[in-house]
Amino acid sequence: MTYYSKVIGTGGYLPEKILTNEELSETVDTSDSWIYERTGIKSRRIAAADETSSSMAEIAARQAIEMAGIDPETIDLIIVATGTPDRVYPSTGCLLQKRLGVKHAVAFDIQAACSGSIFGLSIADQYIKSGTAKTVLVVGSEVCSRIVDWTDRTTCILFGDGAGAVLLTAAEEKGILSTHIHSDGEYEELLYCPTSTEQKAGYISMRGNEVFKVAVNTLGRIVDETLEANDLGQEHIDWLVPHQANSRIIAATAKKLKLSMDQVIMTLENQGNTSSASVLLAFNEGVRDGRIQRGQVVLLEAFGAGFTWGSALIKY
Ligand code: UT7
Repeated sequence: MTYYSKVIGTGGYLPEKILTNEELSETVDTSDSWIYERTGIKSRRIAAADETSSSMAEIAARQAIEMAGIDPETIDLIIVATGTPDRVYPSTGCLLQKRLGVKHAVAFDIQAACSGSIFGLSIADQYIKSGTAKTVLVVGSEVCSRIVDWTDRTTCILFGDGAGAVLLTAAEEKGILSTHIHSDGEYEELLYCPTSTEQKAGYISMRGNEVFKVAVNTLGRIVDETLEANDLGQEHIDWLVPHQANSRIIAATAKKLKLSMDQVIMTLENQGNTSSASVLLAFNEGVRDGRIQRGQVVLLEAFGAGFTWGSALIKY
C-alpha cells in the first residue's frame, strides 16, 4: 500500500505588537519608501517579552489540530523548525510536546534557517511514506526580533516573529506529491547568526545583495526540478506559496512559473520575513481564507542561510 502525506490541518500565530516602517525610521536611517520598494514590507510583528518560539508554536499547532478534528494523542511525530529555540536544549519540539500534552509522540527540532518548514515537510513525508509515522505535526516558529541588531538598517527592517503549523496524516489519496531539499555550506559567510557558544555571540549578519542573486537563481532551478520530478508543466500549478523574504524574489519565481501575482500567497507586507515560519503562515492564510481549495496543486518553496533551499509540491 502506498501512503501519501495528506494535509488535514493548518494554523498560524502572529504576536499582537505591530512595528511599522515609519516607527523603524525613527530609530535607524531608513524610510518607509526605501523598505517598501526594495522589499515589499510595510510592517512586521514583534513577540511580547513572555512569548517564545514554543508558546507561539503551541497556538499555531492547536489551530491545526482543531481544524483536523483529531485527538492530539494520535500525533506520533512533532517536528519544529526554528532558528530561535527557547533553549539550546531541550528542543523546542519537546517543549511543544509538553505544552500540547502529547505523551506518545517523538519530538525534535531541525535547523535549516528560512527553509526549515520545507525541510520539516520533507522529513515528515519520508516518515509517513515509509509507514514509520501516521500523523505528523510540522511547525515553524521564530522570534527573529531577538537575534536582530536593531541598529543595523540592512537587516532590522526585514524580519518579524510568528509561527505556522501543518498537520499531516497517512492517506491513500494524494497529498504531498514530492519534496526536494538541498544545502550548500560553502555560502555560510553570506548569511549567519553566531550562537552563544561562539566567542562573540551576536546577531544576524547578511550580505543581502549577494544572497538576493543566489536566491533568485536557486529558486528558479528548484521550480524546474519540482515540475520535472512530477512530469508536470507550469500550467498545473494553482498556487505558489513562497518563503516571504523579498517581493522581488517572489515575483521572479512567479514569473518563472508564468503565474500571475494573484496566484501567489503573499504575507510579506504585514509580516516581514518570519524565517522558518513564513511558508506555513502563508499556507495557513491561503487555506483559511478559502483561496487554496481541496484538489488544487500548491508549490511551496524556500531559500535561506546555509545556504539551504527546497520545495514541496502538495495536492491539497
Ligand atoms: O530569508 C533568507 C534569505 N534572505 C533573502 O533572501 C534576502 C535577500 N536580499 C534582499 O532582500 C535585499 O538584498 C535587501 C532588501 C536586503 C537589500 O536590497 P538591495 O536592493 O540588495 O540593496 P543593497 O544591499 O544593494 O543596498 C543598496 C543601498 C546601499 O547604499 P549605497 O551603498 O548604494 O549608498 C545601502 O547602504 O541601500 C542602502 N541601504 C539602505 N538604505 C535605506 C541598505 N539598507 C537600507 C535601509 N534604508 N534599510
